[in-house]
Amino acid sequence: MTDLLKIDGLTIQTGGKSLVADLSLSIAGGERLGLIGESGSGKSLTALAAIGLLPDALKASGSVLLDGKQVVGARDRDLVPLRGTTAATVFQEPLTALDPLVKIGRQVGEAVKRRAKRDGRATDKASIAKEVLALLDQVALPDPQRIIDAWPHEISGGQRQRAAIAMALACKPKLLIADEPTTALDVTTQAEILALLARLVRERDMALLFISHDLPVVAGAVDRVVVMQHGRIVESGPVSDVFRQPHHPYTQSLVAAARAFDDALEIAG
Ligand SMILES: Nc1ncnc2c1ncn2[C@@H]1O[C@H](COP(=O)(O)OP(=O)(O)OP(=O)(O)O)[C@@H](O)[C@H]1O
Ligand SMILES: [Mg+2]
Repeated sequence: MTDLLKIDGLTIQTGGKSLVADLSLSIAGGERLGLIGESGSGKSLTALAAIGLLPDALKASGSVLLDGKQVVGARDRDLVPLRGTTAATVFQEPLTALDPLVKIGRQVGEAVKRRAKRDGRATDKASIAKEVLALLDQVALPDPQRIIDAWPHEISGGQRQRAAIAMALACKPKLLIADEPTTALDVTTQAEILALLARLVRERDMALLFISHDLPVVAGAVDRVVVMQHGRIVESGPVSDVFRQPHHPYTQSLVAAARAFDDALEIAG
């Protein structure tokens, strides 16, 4: 089976300095991969390179195959059809995904319409509205009718992230790239959004690239993890193996921190 995303020897440089060095990883259809590492280790750049959205100042080399198409060095207009249909993204700050001047219902509606057009399905107002309502329901947004009529600033951060997830889902991607989708939220909302993502990925049999600096958060949502430090992969394997027997000192420190937190909870509880 061919991989949905296959990165080989990816190096990202700026001014002769490597921000990501010789990175290789792959994600098969329906597979869930976690990418963890400290702040500045190159996780977001790797995600951006996967969909060909690196800033112009950064130069990528190596190979990134997204659904069999070479992304490195590709022209933007050749990549546009891949974004959304093949891979869709959810970022840390939902406001980056949402246009502040367009009501939520219309924004989700645009995404639904684009996909419907591609699939050759009906794009009349009633069909789109029905699908928008169904999506908002799937991401468990309360009072969807109010949300549809709301401006982005009129709903909470957690609700905005749910709306951003609804937009990503509207694209019906084969791969969902979630870059720290819960970091900006409070702990309770974080847990709800994580559970929601895990459920949606499972139900829709989507592949997932889940990025976080938080090992326990990643562990619950993925099958395999890749650990980065200073732009390089330092460890990878099935979640349970990496948790039970971390080899690299950085991973060992992450696991130890997670255990200490668990122990503290047990003592407190
Ligand atoms: N446009 C850019 N120009 C120059 N350097 C950049 C640029 N974007 C990112 N970097 C640098 O590349 C490195 C990796 O950045 P990246 O955003 O991938 O980190 P990250 O692992 O996602 O961190 P975080 O967990 O804080 O989001 C950092 O040192 C960052 O300062
Ligand atoms: Mg980042």
